[in-house]
Order: sequence, then C-alpha cells, then structure tokens
Amino acid sequence: MDVMNMVESLIRWIHVIVGVLWVGLLYFFNWVNSAFAPTMDAETKKKVVPELMPRALYWFRWGAAFTWITGVLLLLMVYYHTKLVLAAPEQGFGGPALIMIAVTFLMVFAYDFLFSGPLKNPQASFWAGIVGSGVVLFLFDAFAGFSFRGYAIHLGAMYGTIMAFNVWFRIWPAQQKIITAIKNGEAPDGALVALAGSRSKHNTYMSVPLLFLMTSQHATWAANPITVTIIVLVGFALVNHIYARAAKVPGF
Ligand code: HEM
Repeated sequence: MDVMNMVESLIRWIHVIVGVLWVGLLYFFNWVNSAFAPTMDAETKKKVVPELMPRALYWFRWGAAFTWITGVLLLLMVYYHTKLVLAAPEQGFGGPALIMIAVTFLMVFAYDFLFSGPLKNPQASFWAGIVGSGVVLFLFDAFAGFSFRGYAIHLGAMYGTIMAFNVWFRIWPAQQKIITAIKNGEAPDGALVALAGSRSKHNTYMSVPLLFLMTSQHATWAANPITVTIIVLVGFALVNHIYARAAKVPGF
C-alpha cells in the first residue's frame, strides 16, 4: 500500500471538510445573517446574538485554523517534497523561489497595513486586490520559475493565509467585544463593527477565486498568469453580484 498517497489523500479529505465548514459559515455571515440581523429589535438581539454568534464563530475560527494547517501540510507533501511547485524541478529551489515562498506567507502583514490605511476604501481595495494578485502571479512565474500548479496554489495559499489571519487576529477579537456589548444591552463600538465587517467582506471576495485556485490542477487551459488574473477579476465581480442579490432576498 502506498502510505504517502494514503496520508496525502486523508489530509486532503480533512482539508476539504474543514474548508467547507469555514467557507460555509463565511457565506452564512455575509449573505444570510447580514440581511437578517437588522430585522431584529434590541430585545431580540440581546437574546439571539449571545447564543448564536459564539457557537457559529467557534466552528468558523477552528475551521479556519485546521484548513490552514492541513493546507500547509499539503504544500509540503505535494509541492515542496516533490518540487512540483517549480517549472524546472531538476534545477532545484533557487533564491528567487525561496523568496516568493516567503512572500506567500508574509504578504499578510503588508495587506493588514495597506487595507487598514491607504487602501481602506472598498473601490480601492477591490482594484488593488486584482492588480496586486496579477503582480504576484507574474513574479511567481517570471522571477521564481513556478509551474502553473505552483503559482496557482501559492496565490490560493496567500489568500488563505490572509483570510485565516483576518479570522483569528481581526474578526474574532472584535466580535468578542461586540457580542459582549450586545449582551449587556450596550451599543457596540462602531469601529470594531466596521473592522469585523470589512475583513469578513475581504475574506468573502478572496474565497471565490481561492476555490478555483485550489482546484486549478484540473484547469490546464488557464495555465497563464494573465488568465489567472482575469479569473480573480471574474471571481470578485461574481461576489459583488451575490452581495447585491443577498440584500434583496426577502423573509416571509
Ligand atoms: C478557505 C480556505 C481553503 C479552502 C476552502 C481550500 C479548499 C481546497 C480544496 C477543495 C482542495 C482540493 C483540490 C483538489 O484535490 O482538486 C484544496 C487543495 C489544496 N489546498 Fe486548499 N483550501 C483552502 C485554503 C488553503 C490554504 C490556506 C492552503 C495553504 C496554506 C491550501 C493548500 C492546498 C494545497 C497544497 C492543496 C493541494 C492542491 C493540489 O493537489 O494541487 N489551501 N484546497
């Protein structure tokens, strides 16, 4: 029995299960609860929010944590151990490849600074996300010598890392204070509500192209950084459309 194949496919199975858990709740918060919550009066909110949100956020944040951990394990097994990340694996990992792998996991700090400052405006963050993704894809391809599967999964890993960071270090800390204020019948801090809301929205935008990037081994027609950048644009535009639709879905 091929033990490595068994271990990889079991980790991939867990990765998909916790990924569905995480992203499923992300879509619940952004496309269902965001339209439902304003329909509650203060008394109802005081009863419902402290019971519903901590339970949903528990599975949400641990889903995020285990998706990231199993994702890194899959990168190590499928892309680094086999050198599948490289267009010319026989040449081995050079400086540029190692630099761009580091950029994949450190970009989150540049994102956190830029998107809470100069790129805070939703229009600016929309276009900066697309142009920034295109530049990173170009560097993965032309500077680091990544294969198509290599640069597609690393853009996905970069999005997934930013999304997991947002959950654990921006959304969850803010939500704990927001839920406590609502439980105490106080108005939650507007800046915390705005921060949690904008980071959750960023995660929703990134999640749709991310799912294409995660399954991109099946899409060899897209093996070009420009094509993948266009897919990111199409993904963001689709999320725009779904937000507009979600605001119009009526209750009974
Ligand atoms: C919302 C977060 C994520 C979701 C929903 C998700 C979903 C998926 C899915 C469905 C696959 C299976 C693709 C296939 O077998 O065809 C996959 C594969 C993979 N994911 Fe993720 N993923 C997420 C985040 C991450 C992160 C953060 C990383 C890395 C840090 C990562 C690394 C990988 C790797 C390396 C594979 C294997 C791809 C291959 O075989 O070519 N994922 N992911």
